[in-house]
Amino acid sequence: MTTATLTEWAYPLAESLLASPLPRRWKHSLGVAERARAIAAIFGPDAELLEAAAVLHDVGYSPDLAKTGFHPLDGARHLQSVGADERVARLVAHHSCAWMEADARGLRDELEGEFPREKEHLADALCFCDMNTTPDGTPTNPLDRINEITGRYGPDSLMHGCATLLFAAGVAPRVVMEILGHSQIAVTMNIYTHVTDGSRREAMGKMDHLLQRRPPSRK
Ligand SMILES: [Fe+2]
Repeated sequence: MTTATLTEWAYPLAESLLASPLPRRWKHSLGVAERARAIAAIFGPDAELLEAAAVLHDVGYSPDLAKTGFHPLDGARHLQSVGADERVARLVAHHSCAWMEADARGLRDELEGEFPREKEHLADALCFCDMNTTPDGTPTNPLDRINEITGRYGPDSLMHGCATLLFAAGVAPRVVMEILGHSQIAVTMNIYTHVTDGSRREAMGKMDHLLQRRPPSRK
């Protein structure tokens, strides 16, 4: 497969996996690809690679592909299985800080073992395109996008988990708000009020484990 035909191959594949079962996700994917085209001039020969990865980045949500339930890995594995350009599969595997969710799901070693990271500026560009596109495919900004994501996934989401860990570590709400991109302190404080003493202790244990200062308590 040549780079010249990459997008011609990518669009029909993404459409076949998303348009019928997940029409809103398909609109979002088209929007992310549109953002990629808007910044194409910056990337020269890699512009088509970025656009192909953009339109394919969420194919792992397709019911036909959902094996682990972690869409970056499911999507990348499928792309690999159909002989996709390995750089496209790598970008899909690592799109939009996928390592964070992979870590939370215990899949980080699998993800990083199977799919080496692509050049950082391309991964950043794909994240930029995703974070500037609404679920309906229209342009947005990263703050509104992250607020939309945290609102959509609720209290069990990774974002809420991150906030809980940060609160438990004593990070000030205003700083947590900036890290997570909340546009209003009320959103951050709403999570803060759910952090009970018990969950703080649990979160501290997880934080220690993550930082590998010492093994988690067996108590
Ligand atoms: Fe996306």
